[in-house]
Amino acid sequence: MRPVVIAANWKMNTTPADAGDLARTMAGRIREPGVERVICPPFVCLAAVRDALSGEDVAVGAQDVHHEAAGAYTGDTSAAMLAGLATWVIIGHSERRRDHAETDERISGKLRRALENGLRPILCVGEQLDDREGGRAEAVVDGQLRGALSGHEPVALANAGLVVAYEPVWAIGTGRNAAGADASAMAEAIRTTADGLGWPDAAETLPVLYGGSVTAANVAEFLTEPAIDGALVGGASLKPDEMAGIVARAGLTANARRQTAAS
Ligand code: PGA
Repeated sequence: MRPVVIAANWKMNTTPADAGDLARTMAGRIREPGVERVICPPFVCLAAVRDALSGEDVAVGAQDVHHEAAGAYTGDTSAAMLAGLATWVIIGHSERRRDHAETDERISGKLRRALENGLRPILCVGEQLDDREGGRAEAVVDGQLRGALSGHEPVALANAGLVVAYEPVWAIGTGRNAAGADASAMAEAIRTTADGLGWPDAAETLPVLYGGSVTAANVAEFLTEPAIDGALVGGASLKPDEMAGIVARAGLTANARRQTAAS
């Protein structure tokens, strides 16, 4: 049974002075044991959020990691530096692909560093609007997955608990979310690609999240799709009321899956 995961991507918001309070408030509003919950604050807020979440069953994630282990990379953060601060890491977010010229090869390197350091990766993929309108969405995402996963043993990635987040770029921060059925079709396509690459039992084991303008009001559109295992939430993840609604809805999905599995 695939897990249900809700990950909060705070992006470049909060400071070390206020992140702990927000994380504590959030944790108190998202107590759904059947749902894996992750908060990904900026690097400089990781320690404050980790401390605020002690005693809570909510994980901490970083928003990126460097593709090399160490060296002359001014301003960057290695996977080893995250020890004790984060247990998850977002890799290949479209904002990093766009603003930091991240290539599939780099993203593959980041995955390697994450695995070497025991970090659980959330690998982001997604097409641009003209790709979708031109009927190339699945081909683009297939290419991104192949690029990111190349050079990796699918079994090692599966053992590391890798999660894919399908985030159509045109839906991120725009208030324009994908249709649940389209996101579901992409989740299936992602598992088909992974299967072809040798992912063990991808249909049963590869979690795929949806991301892009997810809110408490629209999350059910995705979580009622059996192919979708949760959400990567940006803007709404800074609002405790929104996160409470999103995680509560994810709890319903997790419960329904448990009941189906038990029957
Ligand atoms: P959004 O961001 O929810 O603000 O669209 C999602 C993301 O970028 O992960």
